[in-house]
Amino acid sequence: MAAPSVAGDRAAPPSERIGHRRKPDAPDVAGGELIGFGPGKVILIGEHAAVYGHPVLAGPLSWGVTARGTPASRCRLAVPPGAKLTRKARKLLMAAFDRAARACGSPRIRVTLESEIPVSMGLGSSAAVGVACARLLLAASGKPMPPPDVVAKVAMLMEEEFHGQPSGIDHTTSAQGRLILYRRRPGAPLGIARPVRSPRPLKLLVALVGPRPPTRATVAGLRARASRWPSRYGRLMRELGMLAREGAAAVEAGDLESLGDAMNASQGVLSALGLSSASIDQMVHRLRGMGALGAKLTGAGGDGGAVIGLFPGPELALVRLRRQGVVCFESQVAGPKTL
Ligand code: PMV
Repeated sequence: MAAPSVAGDRAAPPSERIGHRRKPDAPDVAGGELIGFGPGKVILIGEHAAVYGHPVLAGPLSWGVTARGTPASRCRLAVPPGAKLTRKARKLLMAAFDRAARACGSPRIRVTLESEIPVSMGLGSSAAVGVACARLLLAASGKPMPPPDVVAKVAMLMEEEFHGQPSGIDHTTSAQGRLILYRRRPGAPLGIARPVRSPRPLKLLVALVGPRPPTRATVAGLRARASRWPSRYGRLMRELGMLAREGAAAVEAGDLESLGDAMNASQGVLSALGLSSASIDQMVHRLRGMGALGAKLTGAGGDGGAVIGLFPGPELALVRLRRQGVVCFESQVAGPKTL
């Protein structure tokens, strides 16, 4: 099922705060309240292939989920009555939180959540919930500055509740808070993340193109096709993994044109895998027409979700798209800060 929305969920990232990036690894203490932050994520190249053990290139968004904790008689997640949650989603969220809380010794805090990321759009909202809760729970149990892999382990417990058997790219990117090339080989309990450094600012425009099926359903549909035609689908998956590696090398070389080209090629492969749609394709072509060096769907895709465009400077395209009624925002995922 779709990852649950959380309390205080705001439909779209607040554009007026673009560029404001919080430091994700250190919990804040404000007025006796502990705060943990988990950024959303964006996959540049390699979604779906990641599930089959191939490399994937992903980075954090400037936006995310904030978990706040205040002293209480027991460890609990407080979801306000007004939260847009189905009963099933609420149960799932509670079960996921309880699992993470138990792993941290159930510190006595009351936790609330605020999200800036649209839910079920491929931007890692559930992983951001997991990372925000993990940081907060770890801090409340006496580990204020845990390394990213410790945070990721706790967040993974929540992701497994939400998604079943995720590759781990979402919560690993959120916990690392930087651009990474990630790979979890088939059967391995954990993936390995390598930081990818960019000598140039890497700026993406993220445009939302409407609702999409839950990740679980899209992953299952692809699995059915892949088991019917294993050799063809295996080739296409391997190609995505190679493009992710080449994309990472292009980032490190400061070659944005090559990264953009690898992103375009990966959109072609995702399309061949049956993961694109008319609305995604239209936005991809719109962004390319506005000067994107590369444009593709991001996340599970299927029909709708989010499309990313790599621009040396996305500001003009952002203004034009907003004028045309498109919900979009900008995020710098790597490189020297320019804002
Ligand atoms: O749930 P999404 O849209 O962020 O997609 C996650 C990426 C997938 O490769 C489709 C799934 C996974 O577990 O890696």
